[in-house]
Amino acid sequence: MSKAISSFELTLKSRSRHQTLTSWLYGELRSAILDGRLAPGTRLPSSRDFASQYELSRGTVVSVLERLQVEGYVTSRVGFGTWVNRVEAPRPSRQTTTTPAYVRRVVSTYKPPQSWIDRAFVGGIRPFRIGVPAISEFPSEVWGRIAADRGRNFRSWLKKEADRRGYRPLREAIAEYLRTSRGVRCTEEQVVITSGIQQGLDLLARLLLKKGDPIWMEDPGYFGARIAFENVGARMVAVPVNEDGLSVSAGMKMCPDARGAYVTPAHQFPLGVTMSLERRMALLRWASRAGAFVIEDDYDSEYRFEGPPVPALQSLDNHSSVIFIGSFSKTMFPALRVGYVVLPEPLVDFFLGLRYRTDFRNSSFDQAVLCDFIADGHLARHLRRMRSLYAERLTTLMEGAEQYLDGLLEISNVRAGLYTIGYLKNGMTSRQAEKLATAQGVEVLGVDRCTLRRSDPNALLLGFGGFDGPAIRQGLIRLAKALS
Ligand SMILES: Cc1ncc(COP(=O)(O)O)c(C=O)c1O
Repeated sequence: MSKAISSFELTLKSRSRHQTLTSWLYGELRSAILDGRLAPGTRLPSSRDFASQYELSRGTVVSVLERLQVEGYVTSRVGFGTWVNRVEAPRPSRQTTTTPAYVRRVVSTYKPPQSWIDRAFVGGIRPFRIGVPAISEFPSEVWGRIAADRGRNFRSWLKKEADRRGYRPLREAIAEYLRTSRGVRCTEEQVVITSGIQQGLDLLARLLLKKGDPIWMEDPGYFGARIAFENVGARMVAVPVNEDGLSVSAGMKMCPDARGAYVTPAHQFPLGVTMSLERRMALLRWASRAGAFVIEDDYDSEYRFEGPPVPALQSLDNHSSVIFIGSFSKTMFPALRVGYVVLPEPLVDFFLGLRYRTDFRNSSFDQAVLCDFIADGHLARHLRRMRSLYAERLTTLMEGAEQYLDGLLEISNVRAGLYTIGYLKNGMTSRQAEKLATAQGVEVLGVDRCTLRRSDPNALLLGFGGFDGPAIRQGLIRLAKALS
């Protein structure tokens, strides 16, 4: 049991006129122990320190501690001090367990977003959960060293960090990376740091859309984007996706005057296809004619295992139609919660206004550590390593699927990203297959969860990034059992 000295001053209620000092102190300490404010194992300050902290005589403190010891609330040993025992708290009376009306109101009226993936991502991480990079391969010692340096020297840099767009050196590093590796046309002034892509989407939805405004959504498409657009009451126009990406001609037939479109051109979520150049040009032509925006979600383009990298859609845009969003969730780790939005210059201040009203800005510390990690070349090194590791894992998955899932599930031949899509060949619906896989301890996502109007694609998403060869093979064997 930990014997940490309670380093926080315990708040004691003021003494009523009729109470003696001793009975007041006894009552306060006893209730702090019973309601857990003084946790089991906490070491109390010495009677001398305690007395001076609360302006009491030492005799009062000693007599109270003696009584608490006799009753079993604390243990004192000469030379070791006094610490709190584990004490069973009496059951709270009925009155205190009644849920307040405001809580009941929230509970009874709460509506989860329609596109909420309710069952996915519960419990421990297991194959083939999507969105999980190889956390155990992350150079955590390097990260820790940089964090320690930044932490030790925070006085020298923290004060200078006043830009609401985010830590300037980090924005410079991101802008340079995007210009070089993604062909994005931007300066660091257009880059705003967000808490991941999801916050970028939330703020963009609030900035660009009003209730009832139509927006083209890929069908099937990313549920996180749908949540953001649903939140503002936008009208989702379900535009079909085929092997060339979003069908611009279908979108123009369905709703030519939509306010904008949300797309994942580099690696369509969830089908994995890359948007063809023809479609890209058609989308940009439509956007500039309609005065519409295009949100380009570039969530995992760093991972392409064959063919040349595909430049961003934004690199082809001459009319400031495209708003580019990206994230370090896949290149670093998702818990970092750092992403970015590249906005047309005239929108930056308005976007920041909304951001300011939400949570002011990101943690400067995380940004500074990330910035050094990039500047010292660690991100580029990590990415190179991860690219070959993920390519290997994908190969293991594809070969294993041929061996174990022949006639049950056909894995797509797209070699990109951290997940892949498998088409069911056994006549099951996506949901049936998902359920049976769950029962076998395998986590796959039915692609029907990503559809808007389109019928069930009879397919599953399999994340492979976070799992080594043996885990992938084990998962495939279980999946084969589920699908047989
Ligand atoms: C298409 C897409 N966009 C965005 C994200 C999430 O990004 P972030 O973690 O930065 O919010 C994901 C996560 O898997 C995704 O699949």
